[in-house]
Amino acid sequence: MKHFLEENNLGKEEILSVFKNAFEYKKNRALRPTQDLMGQSWGMLFYKNSTRTKVSFEVGIRELGGDPVLLDLSSTQIGRGESIEDTAKVLSRFLDGLIIRAHGHEIIKEFAQYAEIPVINALTDFLHPCQIYADCMTILEKTGSSLNPYNGLKGKKLAFFGDTSCNMANSWILAGALWDMDIWLSGPEEFKPSPEIETFCKNANLPIRWKYTQDCKEAAQNADILYTDVWVSMGYEKEENDRKEKMARYQVTQDLLNQAKENSFFMHCMPTHSGEEVTQEVLSSPRSILYDQAENRLHMQKAIMKQLSQNNIS
Ligand code: CP
Repeated sequence: MKHFLEENNLGKEEILSVFKNAFEYKKNRALRPTQDLMGQSWGMLFYKNSTRTKVSFEVGIRELGGDPVLLDLSSTQIGRGESIEDTAKVLSRFLDGLIIRAHGHEIIKEFAQYAEIPVINALTDFLHPCQIYADCMTILEKTGSSLNPYNGLKGKKLAFFGDTSCNMANSWILAGALWDMDIWLSGPEEFKPSPEIETFCKNANLPIRWKYTQDCKEAAQNADILYTDVWVSMGYEKEENDRKEKMARYQVTQDLLNQAKENSFFMHCMPTHSGEEVTQEVLSSPRSILYDQAENRLHMQKAIMKQLSQNNIS
């Protein structure tokens, strides 16, 4: 059974096909609905809040001709302690695919272990692969050299600021390894890249090529993309004041953006906190492409679902 839990779960040919289809879906959106998931029902299980992921998956399933089934903890037996094994096995008898957002990465891994249908990671504390694929689509679209990630992303310098041990930073590390990008991570020592991502790369035979620095200007120098995420992710609210104080000097400002290439872009997976991880000036600048990133979630996830659905039929 093919799942999409981590960026490297697809092979090269599958990745090429996913990116090609995502661009096709975007170009031909007026032709919706397609037949790609016709007659299928896909579950969406969210342990955590979401706007972009939830809506883009729900709309995406409909646009592929399928039916989304929304699940949460409070209205199912999962919230009352039913085991993941039983839940995954039972849902596999009803559904054709399952999209899950959870805190622990081990939760979706356990679902994938027992599910007889494809499972897609819609964010865990460790990784956010759907976001990264959509972001890479956006970079290819904006930089215009190629729509093939292996050609168009190679050598691009992306600098990530703030909590460099978070799921987005981990996912950029994997993107850098897959597509030969030059990934720089800049944040406080306490939030430097976690040993888990290094172990993950080693176990997956992925090259370890990111650079970490506490000097945000060094990271931004000559970058193609500046990227940041919220300083206080879901689940870390108790540490809010401490995190804000420690990360303040990693705020993405116009001054920092000026260190990057003249034609560089600012990206953020959203939701944003204007005045915290990024200034309003940067958010409002023409170099900010976050709404394109958000839109591309829809097209990319449709392509991922199509790919998994095809894989599991053949
Ligand atoms: N970027 C992202 O995953 O947004 P949501 O939390 O709103 O889904």
